[in-house]
Amino acid sequence: NRVSQTSFAVTPAEALVGINDRAAMLSQPGFGKYLTDHMVTIRYSADKGWHDAALTARHDLSLNPATMVLHYAGEIFEGLKAYRHPDGGAALFRPDANARRFNASAKRLAMAELPEDMFVDAVAELAILDREWIPSEGEGSLYLRPFMIGTEVAIGNHPSDSFLFSVIASPVGSYFKGGVAGVSVWVSDNYTRAAPGGTGAAKCGGNYAAALAAQADAARQGCEQVVFLDAVERRWIEELAGMNVFFVFDDGSLQTPPLTGTILPGITRDSLIRLARDKGMTVREEPYAIDQWRDDLASGRLVEVFACGTAAVVAPISQIKGNGFDLTIGDGGLGPVTADLRKTLTDIQFGRAEGPEGWVHRL
Ligand code: COI
Repeated sequence: NRVSQTSFAVTPAEALVGINDRAAMLSQPGFGKYLTDHMVTIRYSADKGWHDAALTARHDLSLNPATMVLHYAGEIFEGLKAYRHPDGGAALFRPDANARRFNASAKRLAMAELPEDMFVDAVAELAILDREWIPSEGEGSLYLRPFMIGTEVAIGNHPSDSFLFSVIASPVGSYFKGGVAGVSVWVSDNYTRAAPGGTGAAKCGGNYAAALAAQADAARQGCEQVVFLDAVERRWIEELAGMNVFFVFDDGSLQTPPLTGTILPGITRDSLIRLARDKGMTVREEPYAIDQWRDDLASGRLVEVFACGTAAVVAPISQIKGNGFDLTIGDGGLGPVTADLRKTLTDIQFGRAEGPEGWVHRL
């Protein structure tokens, strides 16, 4: 029941960018600077359900100025990648997990849920049609961005009765400018990201918008990412602005904050927990306090820290700064445990090694 065979109307791409431009873009993709030629759109209305699925040349969206998303931020999204495999084919990584999380986000924001196979097919069909855009050099990949907005035209604040689901795609390289060189982080004492009962576990644009002022603080402090502490005690590490965080100890164990509803349930986070446990490592999903982080660095108990996410992959954190402290982690580079987990994960994603059953979705 692939969507393309049932209900997509496929329109050929307009020459938005020429082939020479594409080659140039693929050689220096950056992150999210360039979009591919096509996009998916599927509409929802209470009376028709999901309808008008289309895989078309990429086009602008035209919205009535009273469209609900523009006023009340009814928007959710996902991020996943298509990876080039050694045989020239390509694969998605755990798209079913993105489909499930998308629907969990939809539920939290009172939006319509999309059948999981429709989500996966929409993403897969776009990646297949735009496969020339999947980089074949280094660790480049095609980042797929499914998203949904509330499209009812109304100024009153209530759940939208209509939605637009869309998928766009962008060839990407490293999220951080320094690649796998260490990332510096700023511990925010001004802002928190999410409170209990809030939208912290949903992947909604509002969470990322609310993190921007804290990210700007971090940048003013010369750091690339902000670290958020919990909203109640202002003590427990939650996550960075757009990625989860792991701690590596001198006994070889790992720790990451638990999913208590205020942090994003990262699919990379979940994959790394599984892969580390399969290697026989101890992984604790337990709270970790900022004062403990500082003490463990001073005592040498904490040896590596890394950020992880679809965009960030696995990125070592080399420096932690906050009000009155500035500490280097390890030797400030890529530590052996971080490097090993990164390699295990990316080998599976890029088809160089077998992963757990069902993780690799060949296109
Ligand atoms: C992802 O890792 O896919 C995200 O959505 C994070 C975003 C900051 C790019």
